[in-house]
Amino acid sequence: MQKTEIQAAWKTTKRVSPFIWPVGDTKLRARVVLALLALIGSKIIAILGPILQAWAVDDLAGSNISDFILGAVGLTVAYGFARIMTSGFQQLRDVLFAKVAQRAFRRLALQTFHHIHKLSMRFHINRKTGGLSRIIERGVKGLEFLLRHLVFSTGPLVIELVFIGAVIFWKLQDWRYIAIIFITILVYVWFTFSVTEWRVKLRRKMNEEDTDANQKAVDSLLNFETVKYFNAEEREALRYDKAMAGYEEAALKTSYSLAFLNFGQAILVTLGLVGVMILAALGVQLGELTVGDFVLVNAYMIQIIIPLNYIGTVYREIRQALVDMRQMFELLEEPSEIIDKDGAKVLSVSDGSILFRDVRFGYEPERPILHEINIDVKLGKKIAIVGPSGSGKSTIGRLLFRFYDVNGGAICIDGQDVRDVTQKSLHQAIGVVPQDTVLFNDTIFYNIAYGYENASQPEVIQAAKDAQIHDFIMSLPEGYDSLVGERGLKLSGGEKQRVGIARTLLKNPPILILDEATSALDSETEHEIQEAIEHAADGRAVIMISHRLSTVSNADQILFLENGRIVEMGNHEQLIRTKGRYSSLWSLQKSEQV
Ligand SMILES: Nc1ncnc2c1ncn2[C@@H]1O[C@H](COP(=O)(O)OP(=O)(O)OP(=O)(O)O)[C@@H](O)[C@H]1O
Ligand SMILES: [Mg+2]
Repeated sequence: MQKTEIQAAWKTTKRVSPFIWPVGDTKLRARVVLALLALIGSKIIAILGPILQAWAVDDLAGSNISDFILGAVGLTVAYGFARIMTSGFQQLRDVLFAKVAQRAFRRLALQTFHHIHKLSMRFHINRKTGGLSRIIERGVKGLEFLLRHLVFSTGPLVIELVFIGAVIFWKLQDWRYIAIIFITILVYVWFTFSVTEWRVKLRRKMNEEDTDANQKAVDSLLNFETVKYFNAEEREALRYDKAMAGYEEAALKTSYSLAFLNFGQAILVTLGLVGVMILAALGVQLGELTVGDFVLVNAYMIQIIIPLNYIGTVYREIRQALVDMRQMFELLEEPSEIIDKDGAKVLSVSDGSILFRDVRFGYEPERPILHEINIDVKLGKKIAIVGPSGSGKSTIGRLLFRFYDVNGGAICIDGQDVRDVTQKSLHQAIGVVPQDTVLFNDTIFYNIAYGYENASQPEVIQAAKDAQIHDFIMSLPEGYDSLVGERGLKLSGGEKQRVGIARTLLKNPPILILDEATSALDSETEHEIQEAIEHAADGRAVIMISHRLSTVSNADQILFLENGRIVEMGNHEQLIRTKGRYSSLWSLQKSEQV
């Protein structure tokens, strides 16, 4: 491990420790202590076992080392009892610790999930969802591994080795045994660690390939419909196969290297074992040792080898777990771009006025999208934003909602800068019907009720009626319990839009942003909804974004946006009289209708 990696491992350990030693939860802490006691108990008894066994053998062989105790049968029974106790303590330890571990996984997963939701729009647009959920999954698994193996196996193993060394020295009074065991372990550990270093790189590559293939699969399946439209099944399959081929290669290298590691370990361990046993056999032949001593050495060697075999795997997996957890902690440390200021106040909306003052904004610094935007909307007024595609209309809505911060100027609601209030209160005050409504893969009822926590059934139905979707829902065999499919794909575009409108009406916010909210509807339905919106708009500030000028002609103020600038502004009559961009677009759309 390099120095930076050790530092990172230390950092990870520090991050994890509060989960294992939970502050303020005495019950869980008590469990940790009891589990550790059970662990120590099992270790002590495990050391006792071979001593009892050796005494029993010597009893049989007739040397009178332990005549004064129970005799061979009694010692064997005691040995059996010790074995049972060892296992009993081990299981007790696991049972006690299980709750601590499970609680830690849950809390960590929750914290990460929470954090990901807090991250900015910019982060989410650039990041692939399939990859994110994989990182959480692997990170939590990594923690599980670390807990199970590092805390309860590898750490105690070192203590056990020291004990065993002491007992062997005490019984045999010969430093050569200790030397062979010590050297074997040293070489073994060196070999294991260096091969593992190399394997970690292979594993990392394998992980990357795995994430990549997974992302491609998720992206492709999400775009199922598009794939069909373009006859691209073969192309997609090829792309996926290419990603999988990369994984295959990396996985193969990983398993070959594992075979190499395992075999090398077996050779080293066997050399050490045979060396010690030859020494012991010679000792018995020369009459320096009893048969019981031989059995004792053998039993201890086996006792050491089993966890040693395991230490290779553990080291590998710990390295892996640390890598996985680091990825998760990096995610946890990813700063949210948009955060509440210290002492941010709760937004208080009294008259719902919205003010954009000289707002400048670009998603990327090199490409400004909005220039000097000035908007002033008062309570009960409807403002409309029209203009060509890509002119920045939806961006205005996103800025008001504070998905992004402006690069210049300010946005105020009732005189409060959106950057000075809590996001929670800001989001509460604004209802958005987005350009593309995406629904949860659940029932229609769930999706509408999402607009307002604890919405009652009559409220949901009223909202559906206002959004002109109630009759449609009732015509479905399952009514409000109908499932909408992934992202709402079982509904038509217009139906989805109306569900989106219903849930926003249910939210009942003082400020409404309708981004092409009725674009997918036929004129008649649109007209009906328009009335509901008109009704809902009473006493609110409304921003309507639309391509269809007929839907916004009664707005109090219409802004014509072009290339991120407001080029015309006024009510319908004024704009028609100006005979500018609006009026020519109006004439064009009028003539299309006839
Ligand atoms: N996340 C983003 N990162 C970078 N550029 C973006 C991002 N979102 C939008 N843009 C760019 O910003 C410009 C304005 O986008 P916006 O969505 O506001 O347009 P619009 O006026 O709503 O268009 P439409 O009528 O087609 O919905 C577009 O040119 C778009 O390419
Ligand atoms: Mg848009």
